[in-house]
Amino acid sequence: MAHNLLKGKKGIIFGALDEKSIAWRTALRCVEEGAEIVLTNAPVAMRMGEINKLAEICKAPVIAADVTSMEDIENLLTKSMEHFGGKIDFILHSVGMSLNIRKGRSYTDLDYNFTQKTMDISALSLHRVLQTAYKLDAINEWGSVVALTYIAAQRVFTHYSEMADAKSLLESIARSFGYHYGVKKKVRINTISQSPTKTTAGSGVKGFDGFVSYAEKMSPLGNATADECADYTVSLFSDYTKMVTMQNLYHDGGFSSTGISTAVAEQMEKE
Ligand SMILES: NC(=O)c1ccc[n+]([C@@H]2O[C@H](COP(=O)([O-])OP(=O)(O)OC[C@H]3O[C@@H](n4cnc5c(N)ncnc54)[C@H](O)[C@@H]3O)[C@@H](O)[C@H]2O)c1
Repeated sequence: MAHNLLKGKKGIIFGALDEKSIAWRTALRCVEEGAEIVLTNAPVAMRMGEINKLAEICKAPVIAADVTSMEDIENLLTKSMEHFGGKIDFILHSVGMSLNIRKGRSYTDLDYNFTQKTMDISALSLHRVLQTAYKLDAINEWGSVVALTYIAAQRVFTHYSEMADAKSLLESIARSFGYHYGVKKKVRINTISQSPTKTTAGSGVKGFDGFVSYAEKMSPLGNATADECADYTVSLFSDYTKMVTMQNLYHDGGFSSTGISTAVAEQMEKE
């Protein structure tokens, strides 16, 4: 069901680790819709080798970049422009990692060295990418940048821990940079707040299966899948959403607007 929505557009996709990754699904959809892409991930993630399979399907080069390294980001943007023979039209930031969660440290017992790394990878990295692109003038006018977030930035989801703080910062950076890039180059920047989705990053959160089934029962449309998230992202990269910027957009089947659903109420009555 392709409509050439991204015909002639060129973009960079961060964060495709394996075929479950939201970035992986999005890369496939962007190419189906006529885009040319460059894939990137951290050098350590690339050693798994999976990304090469995606690169082959998408006929895309892979350029390694650790999002905490300015040098890597500058190299990525410069090489991508060389590859495309011009500027970029879209960027997907689909990157997140919490060291405290990974090491089993609870929110009331954070190791702040880990927290700084979490913030750097999961939030500040968006600023690094945008600032580098801004200085290199790497994005075409009306270009579009999307970063992925989660509703724990607005409400407490206990096990999401420090990632909630990282997502709040990420959403704030999208809004703040969206202003400056909008004024300068009409580049739009938004975050998509996605339903819980079974991926490597998602499954790292304790009690994740509980998140998924609770959200499924709460959402009138059910949980949004990674493929549906990819479709929504394509629409934000397309020219049909040119005036949408600085927004946090819920892609969650209605979860964020539901207080309690009949399914959850009935479940509670059983207890
Ligand atoms: N899975 C969910 O339930 C869910 C829900 C809402 C939002 N999100 C967000 O979606 C995004 C993508 O996650 P996903 O669920 O597809 O999981 P994923 O594990 O497939 O993707 C996370 C990616 O971040 C990359 N990464 C980590 N550290 C990096 C670094 N230093 N430099 C460059 N890349 C690095 C990983 O290699 C991986 O490719 C994340 O921002 C995540 O927080 C996920």
